[in-house]
Amino acid sequence: MPTDAETATVPETAMVLSALVLPTVLTGVVKRRPGAMQLANRLGTDRRAIELLFALREYHGPGPIRLRLPGRSIVLVLDPGQVSDILADTPEPFDPATTEKVAALGHFQPHGVLISDRSARGSRREFHEAALQPGHELPESAQRFASVIATECQWLEGLVLRTGELGWNDFNEMWWRIVRRIVLGDAARDDRRFNVLLDELRNRANWAYLAAPRRRTRSLLRDRLWQYCTDPEPGSLVERVSEIGQETGTDPVDQIPHWLFAFDAAGMTVMRTLALLAAHPAAASAAAAEAVEMRDTHLSAPPFLNACVQDCLRLWPTTPLLLRETREQTAGRTQTLPEDTTFLIFTPFFHRDRETIPFADQFSPQAWLDGRAERQPGIVPFSAGPAVCPGRDVVRFVMSTTLACLLNRYDYELIDGPIPDRASTVPATIDHFRLRLRPRARETNPEP
Ligand code: HEM
Repeated sequence: MPTDAETATVPETAMVLSALVLPTVLTGVVKRRPGAMQLANRLGTDRRAIELLFALREYHGPGPIRLRLPGRSIVLVLDPGQVSDILADTPEPFDPATTEKVAALGHFQPHGVLISDRSARGSRREFHEAALQPGHELPESAQRFASVIATECQWLEGLVLRTGELGWNDFNEMWWRIVRRIVLGDAARDDRRFNVLLDELRNRANWAYLAAPRRRTRSLLRDRLWQYCTDPEPGSLVERVSEIGQETGTDPVDQIPHWLFAFDAAGMTVMRTLALLAAHPAAASAAAAEAVEMRDTHLSAPPFLNACVQDCLRLWPTTPLLLRETREQTAGRTQTLPEDTTFLIFTPFFHRDRETIPFADQFSPQAWLDGRAERQPGIVPFSAGPAVCPGRDVVRFVMSTTLACLLNRYDYELIDGPIPDRASTVPATIDHFRLRLRPRARETNPEP
């Protein structure tokens, strides 16, 4: 168990707080803030944090280091092997329901699995696995998901052809129509009010314990969810949740807010992947060839586009901080760590660890096709171990199928956005709110 913690100095602790924790919190852990993202992008905050962690590891060695903080025991993990050990030893002794996560996610999902105590976690996890079926063939409803995606992408294409460009706002409008239809059913397609309620709670969640709970908004959101779940649409993700809820003793209405919140990360990833492809012509032409080939067969995630989204999530993980908290003392080499010690895993550092990953700062979808990425214990965009994302297969299908639809007849050129030209390394921060892409109709089909 990775408990050899040396202690950071006061200046080192201050640097970790200001270079890593503060920007992560200010850009919005639960809901990204556009202004803060723009500033983070300008200042290159992720690169600074990554370089700081390299320096700390060089100086202290790979053992985790304990920050010097009054009244809190917080440990920074620096070794990729320890990342996989900690995630594998979840929830005991490394509990995912950490103080900060409970305070933040509690605003909109106080009984969500990720912040459940050990006695409730098992049955709630069972609920998600039964409903989302990770590791199994995609459900029959995948065909419906694909046709929802195709129709909404067509709507977006029409809009983009009129305006001449694809920006975040239009993309996001389409994305939430897809998400509401897939998760809640077609009746929810235009239920923007649902997002207004969810966003209000997520904005408060960004402030964790500093914001007072909005009980009325939460109950309005619950009522709406309850309606979608009690009269579920065939082929939607909520179709079987009442039955699974009864089997697992879990109230679905408590768990589904996490699904909707988590689909937001997937929208960002699709837009970011389009931008990556725009900056990488060889990958773009392989992606286009696959999109054309898969035009009418969307029963599984298109492999190359799936690899592209995975590598996008490696380069810009949407969960930059994986947190765990111990519930008992753990013995280290040089000191005993008290119970309630929080372990910080800053994923952008591990995903771009140039000392162990040869393709650290490059866009490398191929690394997901030949297994090099998955062999790296520090690359964990969907986490790992018993709390690994149970929605990973469904969401990878939705993301890559959306890309396939968007790339079916068009290539995209980056008009504006923070991705530099293709020769240089991919920057560590990306402000997806500012991405603007110009579609170009393809005259001939690309070579597979
Ligand atoms: C790009 C999209 C997504 C990414 C990158 C992602 C990533 C993650 C990560 C990193 C965790 C673990 C957090 C931790 O260990 O502390 C997680 C947990 C979870 N995710 Fe996802 N997720 C995504 C989308 C989804 C979707 C769409 C769903 C549902 C439909 C979903 C359902 C869940 C649930 C229920 C958990 C909690 C698991 C538990 O506590 O056992 N995720 N996800």
